[in-house]
Amino acid sequence: MPPNVALMHLLAAAPDVTAARCALDAEERRARSSCARQRIQDVRHLWKDGAKAFRLVKEITGTASHRTSALWAESFDEAAAISPEAAVALYSLGDPSLLAAATSELAMQLRTWQLLQPDFCVLDIGCGFGRVSGAIAPHVGRAIALEVSERMAQLAQTALREHDNTLVIRSSGNDLFFLRDTSFDLVLAIDSFPYLVDSGVAESHIAGAARVLKPAGRLLIMNYSYRGDLNLDRSDIAQFAERYGFAIERNGTSDLSLWDGRAFLLRRR
Ligand SMILES: C[S@@+](CC[C@H](N)C(=O)[O-])C[C@H]1O[C@@H](n2cnc3c(N)ncnc32)[C@H](O)[C@@H]1O
Repeated sequence: MPPNVALMHLLAAAPDVTAARCALDAEERRARSSCARQRIQDVRHLWKDGAKAFRLVKEITGTASHRTSALWAESFDEAAAISPEAAVALYSLGDPSLLAAATSELAMQLRTWQLLQPDFCVLDIGCGFGRVSGAIAPHVGRAIALEVSERMAQLAQTALREHDNTLVIRSSGNDLFFLRDTSFDLVLAIDSFPYLVDSGVAESHIAGAARVLKPAGRLLIMNYSYRGDLNLDRSDIAQFAERYGFAIERNGTSDLSLWDGRAFLLRRR
């Protein structure tokens, strides 16, 4: 697990700063190898701002509500007002340079998987403030960024203004009915599916992706849910893939050094 992700989990679980520090000290005492001790040092090094990161993680996790897309929209409106960076990627701990590094690594991975081509039309579901659409815009023909939160959509509009091949659409978050059939080469859902799963709209979005993708087009879901059960996620994905005509090319792989997001890459048959 990358140290920033470990620190995020530690701060989210700890009741206060002292408890988090005690847990780190205890882990260090338990560490048997120099490698394990180095990993604790990496976490300490990242957590150099004392209580600030702790407060930020608590504030962002405190905005979380659930069960409907509309409630998640409100939660993300609130979270974006606190810190857009932490709201879209808590593992950035609100640090723009850490988030920029994670975004570059992700964009590089998308290129390695040959998901970005100059003539591709890409749909980015749950685009947040547009960091992924912005990173891929120079490498694709067109990027349509969908977002349910009004504040996030406004931030994305501002951030993507410099890319004239992008368009931000604020959606109800329920489905993709307003998009044309067979019009996209790639549908991306970067850490947005957990909210769709929680709101009960995962299946309508997978069915919608199957409809709007061109034949052999691909759907990349990074993190299917936050249920903490990868086998359950794989089983859901397998059922939907069968039902909506996808072949599974990656089945929950962990491929990045700065984020532990699990990749499910599906190809429309
Ligand atoms: C953790 S953030 C990730 C944002 C962006 N993909 C990124 O990686 O920077 C999840 C985003 O999904 C959006 N979201 C949640 N439910 C949604 C839905 N039903 N439709 C569209 N966006 C949704 C949230 O508003 C939030 O901006």
